[in-house]
Amino acid sequence: MSPAKRLRVGVLFGGRSGEHEVSLASAASVIRALDPEKYEVVPIGISKDGRWLVGTSAQRMLPEVLKSGERVFLPPDPTAATLAPMAPVAGHPSITLDVVFPVLHGTFGEDGTVQGFLELAGLPYVGAGVLASAVGMDKDVQKRLFEHEGLPVVPYLAILRSKWEREPAAVLKLLKKKFRFPVFVKPAALGSSVGMTRVKAAHELPAALSLAGEYGTKIIVERAVNAREIEVSVLGNDEVQASIPGEILPHREFYDYTAKYLEEGTRLMIPAKLTKKQVAVFQDYAIRAFRAIDGSGMARCDFFLERRTGKIFVNELNTIPGFTSISMYPKLWEASGLPYPALVDRLIELALERHREKARTKYSIELPAGSGGALEA
Ligand SMILES: Nc1ncnc2c1ncn2[C@@H]1O[C@H](COP(=O)(O)OP(=O)(O)O)[C@@H](O)[C@H]1O
Ligand SMILES: [Mg+2]
Repeated sequence: MSPAKRLRVGVLFGGRSGEHEVSLASAASVIRALDPEKYEVVPIGISKDGRWLVGTSAQRMLPEVLKSGERVFLPPDPTAATLAPMAPVAGHPSITLDVVFPVLHGTFGEDGTVQGFLELAGLPYVGAGVLASAVGMDKDVQKRLFEHEGLPVVPYLAILRSKWEREPAAVLKLLKKKFRFPVFVKPAALGSSVGMTRVKAAHELPAALSLAGEYGTKIIVERAVNAREIEVSVLGNDEVQASIPGEILPHREFYDYTAKYLEEGTRLMIPAKLTKKQVAVFQDYAIRAFRAIDGSGMARCDFFLERRTGKIFVNELNTIPGFTSISMYPKLWEASGLPYPALVDRLIELALERHREKARTKYSIELPAGSGGALEA
């Protein structure tokens, strides 16, 4: 392919969520894996306060892009599909993009907001669309869809923060009636185990509920299961594939923020030690969970395998999973026969394929000639 025909890929990274730093690590790996013969990468950093900054070819390191990149904006105008400089400078043209790879984790990146924006701008983008992204960020709505699909989820309750604040006694009574301890209390729409508590006794509930409420308007309470944590990578649009399962072996009481990002010690076991039959069930559940939320492109499906009973529960789907070269999502594909660069190629193909498929959809009705007058009145 001649250099002129290279696809221009905007890699969105950073972002306003608590997972800003994780995103930098993921994006650096994605950029390294994009074959320069096929792609021209435009790194687009989003600062913690939400500014969009574009890197020049001199700025090889992503933190530099965030510090001194050129400030740009993306007009929500599909006829442009172009990153425009915020303050036009002679010799700095707008940058036209062919496809966008959002490597953003969490709020304002993985939750459908950026995806909606890219839809308005008419740009193809990697991964889940608006609906699946939004559902993927909401542990409550997600579980309801899993249940509707007949997938087993851990017994749970969703409680509005406003209800907890208005009627704490009633909420505590309800929880004590429904659950035995321990339970997990977590914000419904957040990742990285932030705001989450493993509650061992009833008197610890109020602090846990208030903490979770600091991070969102809806709180999830669910039975704690003593379980192995199994994960499966999913890839595809209408045709969906599941990877071999892997296992997370946290070195702490559970897979909390410290275990995820601060301390080494958590191990990934790939493949997970499972029977053939269990592998088939995990893969089937992962694909059905993906379809239940209307997934596209990619997702990582996380499970609990209860130690005592052998029961499998779907925990959650992540629509933009960790993407560093040592992250579970790409590692599972590698172990399933799809190396990291080929995975990134495939994700871009899937983004373009979905864009083409959607372009066939009619969004307005064509009125017969001469009938426009009636609507103009
Ligand atoms: N019901 C539960 N039973 C046992 N462990 C849990 C439960 N809920 C969460 N955990 C532990 O907390 C971690 C993070 O919870 P999760 O619901 O996956 O939130 P996040 O979106 O932050 O990853 C899990 O990987 C697991 O270690
Ligand atoms: Mg999780």
